[in-house]
Amino acid sequence: MKKLDFDRIFRRAHRAATTQLSTSFSHLTTHSHEGILVTTHMDRSVSATTPETTAEQLEVNPLVPANDVDTTGVPFRMNDGVHIPAERYYDKSFADLENKKLWMNTWQWAARVEDIPNPGDYIEYTVVDESVFVVRTDADTIKVFQNVCPHRATRLAQGCGTFGGSQIVCPFHGWRWNLDGSESLIYGRKGFIPESITSDKVSLSEVRHQIRYGFIWITFDNDAPTLDEFFGTIDKNIAPLSMDKMRVRWWKYTVLDANWKVALEAFMEAYHIMQAHPELAMGVTGEGYNPDSQRYALHGMGHVNGVYKSEEGTPFDSDVMGFGEFFLEQNRVLFEGTDGTNTIRDETIADRVRYQDLPDEAILPTFMQEYSAYAKDAGIPLPPPNPDAAQYAFLFPNMVLLGFFGNLLFYRVRPNGDDPNTCIFEVFAMQIPPAAEPEQAPARPEGPLAFEDWPFILRQDIDNIVRQQAGYRSKAFKEATMSPRMETMIYVMHNEIDRYLAR
Ligand code: FES
Ligand SMILES: [Fe+2]
Repeated sequence: MKKLDFDRIFRRAHRAATTQLSTSFSHLTTHSHEGILVTTHMDRSVSATTPETTAEQLEVNPLVPANDVDTTGVPFRMNDGVHIPAERYYDKSFADLENKKLWMNTWQWAARVEDIPNPGDYIEYTVVDESVFVVRTDADTIKVFQNVCPHRATRLAQGCGTFGGSQIVCPFHGWRWNLDGSESLIYGRKGFIPESITSDKVSLSEVRHQIRYGFIWITFDNDAPTLDEFFGTIDKNIAPLSMDKMRVRWWKYTVLDANWKVALEAFMEAYHIMQAHPELAMGVTGEGYNPDSQRYALHGMGHVNGVYKSEEGTPFDSDVMGFGEFFLEQNRVLFEGTDGTNTIRDETIADRVRYQDLPDEAILPTFMQEYSAYAKDAGIPLPPPNPDAAQYAFLFPNMVLLGFFGNLLFYRVRPNGDDPNTCIFEVFAMQIPPAAEPEQAPARPEGPLAFEDWPFILRQDIDNIVRQQAGYRSKAFKEATMSPRMETMIYVMHNEIDRYLAR
């Protein structure tokens, strides 16, 4: 068996990384550590503007450890382009470090704008030990507050709902606030020392937020880059999806017995399709199904866009079926197995094509024509076709999305409190509804769902997620071995996590 020459890999990778970086960022400093040249720079705005790494570059250059931050002090760090130490998935001190340095500093999405349509409507969002609530204060304003009473720490909001009379009222002793967070009543005020309850001490604390793509994103870090910088160049893949026009069709959640990264990673590669999802692989087994079906583009800040290599046709021998038939059949399985990326709407359109008995090469163009005709008739404001629009993307740190003409299935995974062995696992199906459709009721989470209540493709994934977590904790397992080509997204996520942990 061929032995991997890591030294050569590092040298080659470093050469590529520094050439790329030095042309753009001549102010970076380079030093040598453990024989690996490490480029150190703590300015977060740099990686926000890191040019997209193309698939072609990736194919000749294996993935590399974080190259603009010195991560050598991070425990269980990613130190080559191939392995992930198992402790990253269960070690309590590693989770504590993530909780403190990643979750308290990165941007994360807390709510959808349309889910708080009226003044006073709120949604609570929790992560690790923190809880915030997002509240609409008037038709044009949304605010986010720390969900804690300045008196004696009671959580003010739970789940979602509406603050009656536009007043936030603490359920314990009845202190009150206006929707803008200013105090409106301290019950028994004269019993307090006036200096201890000045308005700066008793107003609710605001949390930094920005609205984008119809989502309300929050960060606890006032020094974090702007959302523009954070998303950087992946915006060109995400913006064309018109996510702000989408509405949540369903939102399901559960608590899984797995580290948040194990759960998320199940959706961060297409390599598992042949074995885990035989229906999606059309029953083709072994090497007959091409595992290398995605081309990945890295955008800095941990974001990755994956593009299906459709120019190579089906992922298997074309004798099995042509690309047109594969397109229709895989979408049917996705409808039956997720009801997310593909919905009854898409299947209705597919049926118009399916029964026309067309030559294979005519199927996709006919589907596209039927789709746009249907959207026009039904008044669905589909965005104009855009070859850059994401079909499969990872938005760091915890959102994976799969898209299909006006639909999205996406995953959000968070730690469950401070337990490294469980996580809050959520799946959302979104779709652009007809413009004329009346406003739908705000989306609410359904769950915690029992295993058997998930659509079948998700059951196939969840089953592996839980088995994997158990395996990672085994003494017999030291580190995961990654394919730099097929498990790119996962590697990039870990690499970016280390950049946060090194700060
Ligand atoms: S804890 Fe909120 S009013 Fe006392
Ligand atoms: Fe899967």
